[in-house]
Amino acid sequence: MPSQTLNNEQLSLKVETNDAWIRSRTGIISRRVIGEGETLTSLCCQAGKEAIDMAGWEPDSIDLIILATSTPDDLFGTAPQIQALLGASNAVAFDLTAACSGFLFTLITASQFLKNGSMQRALVIGADQLSSWVDWNDRRTCILFGDGAGAVAIEATSPEKCGLLGFKIKSDGSRGDCLNLRQEASHLPLTEGRTYQKGEFSPINMNGQEVYKFAVREVPAILENLLKTTDTDPQSLDWLLLHQANQRILDAVADRFSIPHQKVLSNLANYGNTSAATIPLMLDEAVKDGRVKPNHLIATSGFGAGLSWGAALIRWQGPL
Ligand code: UT7
Repeated sequence: MPSQTLNNEQLSLKVETNDAWIRSRTGIISRRVIGEGETLTSLCCQAGKEAIDMAGWEPDSIDLIILATSTPDDLFGTAPQIQALLGASNAVAFDLTAACSGFLFTLITASQFLKNGSMQRALVIGADQLSSWVDWNDRRTCILFGDGAGAVAIEATSPEKCGLLGFKIKSDGSRGDCLNLRQEASHLPLTEGRTYQKGEFSPINMNGQEVYKFAVREVPAILENLLKTTDTDPQSLDWLLLHQANQRILDAVADRFSIPHQKVLSNLANYGNTSAATIPLMLDEAVKDGRVKPNHLIATSGFGAGLSWGAALIRWQGPL
């Protein structure tokens, strides 16, 4: 996590809002914002190193690094820098963009290389710095987001020990307008009769109510589908690990399956919505404080811009 915190009171000095409104509508109390001396890349390296150490790996034994981010330090790709800084000299490294679904999509993508036998070890990182892209004068969006990075080390294993028991992923670009971070087309003169489009992005644009409705409709639907195809009783789940967007969304999804709220992992009060980082950050916290234990059954779901969403059923193995 970045070291700089920004709580609701401090934010209400910048934009017309208040702690009570933010808490009751979202559950968020504070968030972290990358300040001087830190970068998204440095956070990714910290998270990546911790994951590699927990797994007991040598950096040069890693075959693949995928960074899920929509806010890279380098539009050409940030993962290769992370690969170099971690000393993962044998890993191929690339970025994957799927906003708040990014970590889930990346985890599933990486696992396919392991399952088909072409690679053995992968480092999957989810990281975002939405503080750079949000309009800090727009109280409808700026209260929601925070910065952060999380990482998970995954390794090929025998089919019977495989921790990824099933997944579903979906996209619907026709509804993409309710949450985007688009390039603005400003045409500038190049030479006689020729123009070019300057590369500039407008801040995050969101229709909060539409995104809310999308989440509380599609997340339960895809989870239900996944649980059905994997023949899993919702009551047998140890944890529900959802993208940390809004406490009301987390509670609504849990209620649809009559899952007690104690089984819903949540840390958004402290960090807000860190986009691609929420799921690995939450998992890391719950593994380290002993809530998530080896052999626990976890249903996870990511959802957000695209629109994109997905779910995975995981039997947590812990460090092998
Ligand atoms: O990864 C996915 C990312 N996106 C999301 O997860 C967003 C999902 N949507 C949401 O979480 C909710 O829609 C929000 C938290 C964004 C908004 O909550 P809401 O209950 O849908 O509020 P609203 O937009 O309907 O606004 C209600 C009122 C409005 O005032 P009026 O028109 O009733 O007078 C807003 O102007 O609250 C006002 N308002 C605020 N007041 C104080 C909106 N933002 C704020 C604010 N502080 N920050």
